[in-house]
Amino acid sequence: MADNVKSGIAPLAQAAQQVVVQQSPENEALLKPQGAPEFFIDLRPRLFKLPEYQNKEKINVRYPLLPPYAFAHVFWDEKQKELVYHIEEQILNDTEKELIKLIQLGLEEMINISFRYATKSDLILKYIEKNVQSIIAELGAKVSRESYLKIMYYIYRDFIGLNEMEPMINDPYIEDIECNGAGTPVYIVHRKYQNMRSNIIYEDQTKLIDFVEKLAQKTGRYVSYAKPLLDGSLPDGSRVNATYTSDVTTHGPTFTIRKFTKEPLTPINLISYQTTDPKIMAFVWLAIEHKFNIMAIGETASGKTTFLNALLQFVPSEARIVSIEDTREINLSHENWIPAVARVGFGIPNLLGKQYGEITLFDLLRESFRQNPDYVVVGEVRGKETYVLFQGMASGHASYSTFHAASVETLVRRLETPPINLPASLVDSLDIIISVVHLKDQNKNVRRMVALKEIIEVKQQVGTVDSNTLFEWEPIEDKYVYNGNSHVLAIISKRTGIPVKKLEDEMNIRAEVLAKLAEKGLAGYDEFTKIVNLYYKEPQTVISELGIKVKA
Ligand SMILES: Nc1ncnc2c1ncn2[C@@H]1O[C@H](COP(=O)(O)OP(=O)(O)OP(=O)(O)O)[C@@H](O)[C@H]1O
Ligand SMILES: [Mg+2]
Repeated sequence: MADNVKSGIAPLAQAAQQVVVQQSPENEALLKPQGAPEFFIDLRPRLFKLPEYQNKEKINVRYPLLPPYAFAHVFWDEKQKELVYHIEEQILNDTEKELIKLIQLGLEEMINISFRYATKSDLILKYIEKNVQSIIAELGAKVSRESYLKIMYYIYRDFIGLNEMEPMINDPYIEDIECNGAGTPVYIVHRKYQNMRSNIIYEDQTKLIDFVEKLAQKTGRYVSYAKPLLDGSLPDGSRVNATYTSDVTTHGPTFTIRKFTKEPLTPINLISYQTTDPKIMAFVWLAIEHKFNIMAIGETASGKTTFLNALLQFVPSEARIVSIEDTREINLSHENWIPAVARVGFGIPNLLGKQYGEITLFDLLRESFRQNPDYVVVGEVRGKETYVLFQGMASGHASYSTFHAASVETLVRRLETPPINLPASLVDSLDIIISVVHLKDQNKNVRRMVALKEIIEVKQQVGTVDSNTLFEWEPIEDKYVYNGNSHVLAIISKRTGIPVKKLEDEMNIRAEVLAKLAEKGLAGYDEFTKIVNLYYKEPQTVISELGIKVKA
């Protein structure tokens, strides 16, 4: 149980100025649907807004995660002089703790299947609840309704959920959860209040090892001493990275869980967050319509995949998209989309280094070109699949991908040198490179597109490239500068016979459309893609509906 994980209710002194965030009334009404079983846990996304603070020393907010069982409490820790994030769960008395232990033993005996693979279905919960009730009856224990619900919560949490992490996993405001080993607190990245230390500490290594095993099983992958690195996704789409043993990372097992917003971010969201601006996105829109190849680059967690996922929303609805990933991150509701995920094999690798049942990105990509896609997306390229991707580009398939590199020069050099080893002539198929950064310190947590560059020519000499910085971010005023002379627009003009000036006008109109949508707050995925597709067919309708005046 929760014995060696520290958690509990915050000091009473905090309570005075505490802001308690409630569910919105409409969600509250839905809290327990009619006919729900005795024990009910509400996993639907919560609707609430967290208050803004000028001074973070004043922050003291408590909000529901799995009400009434688990809450998040964010407050200023006077002693440590830092903002902290506490999970507050119902506290068990000794009798309840004892009872839970007995019930767990009983359940393990009675239920001969592993719940580690269980998804959060009501059916499983009902099944467990029935068994818990019969165990309690068998033990002849007298349990109040209040105790019973508390006990059921912990049983749910540890059998079906992700143990101590379950409340955090259900916090829509958490972006990242990081555990750097036993004996040190788990850290979180909060969408609103930035980075914080949490009150969850795995005191003991075996407990952490157990947890990493559970994570592995939930992702359908396998970790062991021989294969100590885990990279997978949880059923809710969160991405998990973990190490199993202490020889890989010195503090013993570690894990990070990257959560995603349930609804993917749209270009409009990115404009509202100032990660990019309307004109940049209008240019990207034109480039995608005309099937130019784009790669998003940046450091770890800078927002490459999110940017990629947003720009794919400009793909016309009738076009076929094939996406290929190691772990599922691309999230579209495009009708003509074939998502594929690589599969890890098992057993001893054969002479080619391949395991039984293994399907690599390389295999998938080669296969995908046979499906004749209009747009090919590779979540992230690293190895020999890169070659296939660039061959695809060279043969006219629009390709989109991300790559871990801080600059265009580094990207090109890494593509041209081992282990990837592409010839300059293939790297030259790339048209547009978007670089993103994550800027964070005590007071800010923002993501910015620092540059959009067009590749003009990749030179024979390794790592040298002639490019045009079409847009760049200007940090002092926090805005984007358009430098003009687009190479891509010149190519479109050559292909279509439309003068560059006209293409620029079109880009400006689209920029106004996007700016209007951002201004009106029309940022939802379905709404946004509907408007994009209407624009492809009847641009005038969209322009006049949004009240945009087109200059003659
Ligand atoms: N522009 C943005 N504004 C706000 N949050 C963002 C933005 N871009 C990304 N995020 C959030 O940041 C986290 C990391 O984003 P993402 O996975 O896109 O990064 P990445 O660069 O692809 O990371 P990796 O190097 O691990 O592949 C996610 O939780 C995502 O929701
Ligand atoms: Mg990524």
